[in-house]
Amino acid sequence: MQTRVLTGITTTGTPHLGNYVGAMRPAIEASRRADVDAFFFMADYHALIKSGDADRIERSRLEIAASWLAAGLDPQRVTFYRQSDIPEIPELTWFLTCVTAKGLLNRSHAYKAAVDRNVGNGEDADAGISAGLYMYPVLMAADILAFDAHQVPVGRDQIQHIEMARDIGQRFNHLHGHEFFVLPEALIEEQVATLPGLDGRKMSKSYDNTIPLFAGGGKALREAIMRIVTDSRLPGEPKDPDSCAVFTIFRAFASESETTAFREALLDGIGWGEAKQVLYERIDADVAPMRERYAALMADPGGIETILREGALKARAIATPKLAALRAALGLRSAGMAAQPAASPRPAPKPGRMPRFASFRDGDGSFRFRLFSAAGEELLLSAPFADPKAAGMLQKRLKTLGAASAVFTVQPLCLILELDGEAVASTPTYRDEQSRDDALAQLCEALDQLAAQDQGAAAAADAISD
Ligand code: TRP
Repeated sequence: MQTRVLTGITTTGTPHLGNYVGAMRPAIEASRRADVDAFFFMADYHALIKSGDADRIERSRLEIAASWLAAGLDPQRVTFYRQSDIPEIPELTWFLTCVTAKGLLNRSHAYKAAVDRNVGNGEDADAGISAGLYMYPVLMAADILAFDAHQVPVGRDQIQHIEMARDIGQRFNHLHGHEFFVLPEALIEEQVATLPGLDGRKMSKSYDNTIPLFAGGGKALREAIMRIVTDSRLPGEPKDPDSCAVFTIFRAFASESETTAFREALLDGIGWGEAKQVLYERIDADVAPMRERYAALMADPGGIETILREGALKARAIATPKLAALRAALGLRSAGMAAQPAASPRPAPKPGRMPRFASFRDGDGSFRFRLFSAAGEELLLSAPFADPKAAGMLQKRLKTLGAASAVFTVQPLCLILELDGEAVASTPTYRDEQSRDDALAQLCEALDQLAAQDQGAAAAADAISD
């Protein structure tokens, strides 16, 4: 099974070395592994919490998209999109908000820090704090839970947010009596989870201590590196590698042997100016080829837009059915659909009231089948198979699949079910999007019923063989 790895980057700034080392590079590396199904997105709704500067957000979205692509992200291989292109995310945010304890949000580090600042300044505790800041962790939980991400690569400062996403997801699962969400784990690259900035504190836009990744070219990179704060030891005096940002940043780019050599040079008393030049050259060796791709991408914003739109379609193929299933579970099904007491565990399936398959031979001799809901409505028509065994195998898989593992491509008026990247069945054509979405909820329900029955049968077989 593939591990789904998902990460977001807030679009309020221009990528710096800390973003590259802490988030982009490890995530892009992981995305190349065959056992990883990677999701990357621009957290532009989160950006609204931090900034009201529309031009800056717009520019940042473009720069970040170009940076990730230039750094080697392959949009064919991964799912790369903008948060604001996925309406299911704000919808899920509300569903999660309704099960999130206010007390949990009170304990958020970011919120508490803002309150402490206010109190320290003798102001009202909540002065100038938006509900958006307060809700930040819930929006982030929705980003993650909407796609059932297993792992979330983040910096250390975000660990609490991932824990909150777990808490919230777990609470939702518990309250609604079904494992709707995978519970995510934070993934921290141990050696260089956070990079120090110019002043030795964590490299962060908010400390104004960053080193740009691409912006300003090699010149800006070198200038920033020359501004890294060091102690006042002179050339010839030994330097302590373990207490200086120059070394820590070097180590984040260098191999083990390069790192050992640099450590020795510092201990031997290399001057800070020279040490910084070594650091610059080491970083630029990695960055220069990416910088060229970055420039080409930035010169073609329409190309980036196309990539992101395709990414949003891929992402929504997962989020749309997921949200349809959640709406059904929450009692938000359209009127006229069979009511299901989804909040309690599903009733034991009664014979004759289950979804069922009907096989037939098509005019051209091929073997196909339909899936009908428990209420007798047609849900799916399979692709044609030359071999009846292949059609049988597909039926078998649909019996155990379950809604959470089903991947649908959402078409304007119908849905296509995919297995292992291949279209294997499709729904009838519906008259409008609402009917299509209702059908999706029914389909999810039917797949879950089949899977539950299959598990029941397996358990019964186990009990007999015991
Ligand atoms: N809060 C993250 C940050 O500031 C960005 C982010 C938003 C994110 N949603 C996410 C990261 C979901 C990982 C998963 O770095």
